[in-house]
Amino acid sequence: MTIPNSNLVLLCAIIFISVFSSSSSGSASHEGFLECFHSGLGGNTNTTSGIVFTKTSSSYETILDASIRNSRFLTTSVPKPNLIVTPHNLLHIQLALRCSNQSNLQVRIRSGGHDYEGLSYVSNVPFIIIDLFNLRSININMEDETAWVQSGATLGELYYAIANRSKVHGFPAGSCATIGIGGHFSGGGFGAIFRKYGLAADNVIDAQIINVNGTILNRRTMGENLFWAIRGGGGSSFGVITAWKIKLVRVPSTVTIFDVSRNLDDGGSEIFTKWQTVAPKLPAELFLHAVLGVSDSASRVGNRTVVFSFTGLYLGTAEKLLPLMQKSFAEFGLQRSNLTEMSWIQSVLYLAGFSGDQSLEVLLNRNITSPSFKTKSDYITEPISSTGLEGLWKLLVLEESPTMILTPYGGIMSEIPESAIPFPHREGMLYGIQYSASWDSNEDAAKHIKWMRTLYDYLAPYVSKLPRRAYLNYRDLDLGVNGPNTSYVEAQSWGLKYFNQNFKRLGKVKARVDPGNFFRNEQSIPPF
Ligand SMILES: Cc1cc2nc3c(=O)[nH]c(=O)nc-3n(C[C@H](O)[C@H](O)[C@H](O)COP(=O)(O)OP(=O)(O)OC[C@H]3O[C@@H](n4cnc5c(N)ncnc54)[C@H](O)[C@@H]3O)c2cc1C
Ligand SMILES: *[C@@H]1O[C@H](CO)[C@@H](O)[C@H](O)[C@H]1NC(C)=O
Ligand SMILES: *[C@@H]1O[C@H](CO)[C@@H](O)[C@H](O)[C@H]1NC(C)=O
Ligand SMILES: *[C@@H]1O[C@H](CO)[C@@H](O)[C@H](O)[C@H]1NC(C)=O
Ligand SMILES: *[C@@H]1O[C@H](CO)[C@@H](O)[C@H](O)[C@H]1NC(C)=O
Ligand SMILES: *[C@@H]1O[C@H](CO)[C@@H](O)[C@H](O)[C@H]1NC(C)=O
Ligand SMILES: *[C@@H]1O[C@H](CO)[C@@H](O)[C@H](O)[C@H]1NC(C)=O
Ligand SMILES: *[C@@H]1O[C@H](CO)[C@@H](O)[C@H](O)[C@H]1NC(C)=O
Ligand SMILES: *[C@@H]1O[C@H](CO)[C@@H](O)[C@H](O)[C@H]1NC(C)=O
Repeated sequence: MTIPNSNLVLLCAIIFISVFSSSSSGSASHEGFLECFHSGLGGNTNTTSGIVFTKTSSSYETILDASIRNSRFLTTSVPKPNLIVTPHNLLHIQLALRCSNQSNLQVRIRSGGHDYEGLSYVSNVPFIIIDLFNLRSININMEDETAWVQSGATLGELYYAIANRSKVHGFPAGSCATIGIGGHFSGGGFGAIFRKYGLAADNVIDAQIINVNGTILNRRTMGENLFWAIRGGGGSSFGVITAWKIKLVRVPSTVTIFDVSRNLDDGGSEIFTKWQTVAPKLPAELFLHAVLGVSDSASRVGNRTVVFSFTGLYLGTAEKLLPLMQKSFAEFGLQRSNLTEMSWIQSVLYLAGFSGDQSLEVLLNRNITSPSFKTKSDYITEPISSTGLEGLWKLLVLEESPTMILTPYGGIMSEIPESAIPFPHREGMLYGIQYSASWDSNEDAAKHIKWMRTLYDYLAPYVSKLPRRAYLNYRDLDLGVNGPNTSYVEAQSWGLKYFNQNFKRLGKVKARVDPGNFFRNEQSIPPF
């Protein structure tokens, strides 16, 4: 396979910012926690080694940093947890909840650590991290085409496990292999086959959660309201979700990939203008997203131009795709030789930034480095006008390393009701935008974040309104931050953007399952 893949690597390596004040380290509470945890293990158990890590443990830093997927939060000025608990079983989670409450330590839950604002591992009050990386089993049942997946597994591990059992099954979730199941499923989760099959959360059929009292619940015992809330409402407001039962989807044995690249000088802007209305109307089997970046250009003032990379994934053969593309995007000039057929799992590798013929084992690698970044999101319901686009291109070339990923909606996403799960961005959405700035030196962070905010302000007239929508899994603390006593009504400032009309039901579920607001962070849902 010889498709150039340089632009896609960016998709899986994007990062972010925010300001946290530093925490005092409550050593009294830390001792209390250890005592409580110890006695919970039976008292005569003489060690918590390998389960609880204090700041003086030799592996504390390695474990903390291993799942920090935004290097903005790797600096020493970012507050660190008093303790890290890495449960090997559910009892360890129950104890961590009980003991943190007794010791007045806040809890942060981490699965894959991709939270754009670091909420799974940073807090400005004394806190512990419950890091689920040891709880990562995946049990596939081919008979009923389902799987139980623990939250600490990664998407790469899930895709690998499915491919190991079947060439014609898959799962509709995100592209990057290191994303954690826990955060991704609880925030929605979309990828290159979501126009056909929906979000990851749309395909969850059962779950296991440990609530504020330490009770282990499944779908039946938690009830439909809580089960609804954790499929897109974010897990961190409701409890520790330990495992998910998913419905696998059937994928064809052959899928087809293509890539087309243009810049401002060879028709990129014109094709993009058309893409805005055509891509969301393509058959659900065809995903065609646009990734925008900038590169040097000899022929432009200021030497920079916008580069438009259109990548397509078709759930079917090249023979069927070719006439479809010639009809819908003749401008691409695609020929049979431009289309690459492969298996679904090879397309997963390709979209994750690997080459399609690399060994599947790369999907299991968790040892990656991440840039520093800030990301924001928007939804588009009317195509951006040509004036709007011209101004956008001018803003993009001002930033060192900007990326915009534009994802067409439509397909089954328009058919699933807005209230089916908390994720509300369904009918009427043409496409979603994720825009990011990434940088090497954190000293320059403020400059890049300022540019991001300028771009966000610039786009206001062109994007969804009342509310201006945003995707929870692209967490953005600029949208609003809870104070110690933020009410449900105050939290609407950011809550309606992520959840629209579903926010109220989330507040009611929260009031029922965690009235004392034990599970909280800067953007957790206040009880209503
Ligand atoms: C490089 C990169 C690429 C991405 N690509 C995509 C993509 O293609 N599609 C897409 O939809 N999203 C994408 N995302 C966003 C991603 O889906 C979210 O960041 C997601 O929340 C990450 O889940 P996590 O478990 O890795 O993160 P974490 O940081 O561990 O968790 C995120 C949030 O969920 C909470 N949480 C985590 N686990 C649990 C649990 N078990 N129980 C309760 N609460 C929990 C955390 O406390 C935190 O608030 C991408 C992110 C990055 C950094
Ligand atoms: C202490 O730990 C060691 C090693 O794990 C074990 O052999 C021993 O039985 C333990 N002692 C008690 C009192 O639990
Ligand atoms: C936390 O502890 C306090 C007292 O120590 C208790 O009243 C409260 O019920 C506990 N909360 C939870 C969620 O366990
Ligand atoms: C792949 O599947 C085989 C049997 O189907 C199993 O023995 C093996 O452990 C699996 N490999 C992984 C990494 O899951
Ligand atoms: C940028 O422009 C300058 C003069 O306009 C030219 O000398 C230089 O070669 C250009 N650089 C690139 C990378 O095109
Ligand atoms: C398609 O293939 C032809 C012939 O190999 C090549 O010249 C052309 O650039 C390719 N087009 C795209 C969009 O990759
Ligand atoms: C992770 O990768 C780096 C660089 O590739 C390497 O130096 C390091 O040893 C790796 N760590 C682990 C735990 O594999
Ligand atoms: C928050 O509410 C509690 C209890 O009502 C009160 O004691 C505290 O002062 C409030 N804190 C702030 C910052 O308003
Ligand atoms: C937790 O326990 C308390 C005290 O037993 C009970 O009143 C409350 O309903 C329980 N909460 C949940 C969510 O089960």
